[in-house]
Amino acid sequence: MRLILVGPPGAGKGSQAKLISEKYHIPNVSTGAMFRKAMGEQTPMGQKAKLYVDRGDLVPDDVTVGLVAERLQEEDCKNGYILDGFPRNTFQADSLTELLKSWNQGLDHVLNISSSDEMVISRLTGRRSCPRCGAIYHLANKPPQRDMLCDNCSNDLVQRNDDREETVVNRLQVYKKQTEPLLKYYREQGLLRNINGEQSIAEVFVDICQVLEGKR
Ligand code: AP5
Ligand code: MG
Ligand code: ZN
Repeated sequence: MRLILVGPPGAGKGSQAKLISEKYHIPNVSTGAMFRKAMGEQTPMGQKAKLYVDRGDLVPDDVTVGLVAERLQEEDCKNGYILDGFPRNTFQADSLTELLKSWNQGLDHVLNISSSDEMVISRLTGRRSCPRCGAIYHLANKPPQRDMLCDNCSNDLVQRNDDREETVVNRLQVYKKQTEPLLKYYREQGLLRNINGEQSIAEVFVDICQVLEGKR
């Protein structure tokens, strides 16, 4: 199964990708997480990405497409994958279409997780995450069991640098300008499925499973 998750920042892509990955045993390929890892390790790519990520702008396409092309050829992607946060503009979508064609692969679904601006802003400002294992929490909606410590690995939780309100506003604008046109792109290919992201995490996941299992 090969899936794309699209939707505004804070719609819940990462939270749902984790659940899909566990239930259907396919890896979550998150470009955002790959950039954050490289930034943490201060690799040359991470240092370059940081200039864009911290402002809420897209990392240049040559870096991003190359990264994904390599990742999708790894062994664990053989039986499918979830693309969380890629593609994010039409150049990336065209590049992915070309790559898939050259590998003789097709996509099963593009899941569009929708959410209002007000909702995503409150979700992002309340988000905390674990830098070690990537687990995602929310101060009000999904608090950790122990104050500011990860339930899985007890690491200190952190707030993402790009979750400051002014950066969130720019990320939303970038989404509307550059990423939203992809909805039409995939609708025309008959791949787009709309998911109401304004429900609880569990309810959103039920809707997604119904689509993946052909019940909706
Ligand atoms: P990326 O990491 O992809 O960020 P994003 O798209 O802005 O999305 P988020 O991760 O912020 O939100 P999400 O939808 O995953 O929501 P989450 O599940 O965490 O990208 C970061 C940056 O990297 C970009 O700005 C760019 O610079 C760069 N980048 C990445 N990909 C790129 C690309 N292809 N090209 C160029 N640059 C790229 O949930 C959010 C919060 O809400 C959490 O606290 C969660 O607990 C809570 N929550 C989730 N769902 C619900 C629910 N249903 N009910 C209540 N609370 C919920
Ligand atoms: Mg995410
Ligand atoms: Zn953790």
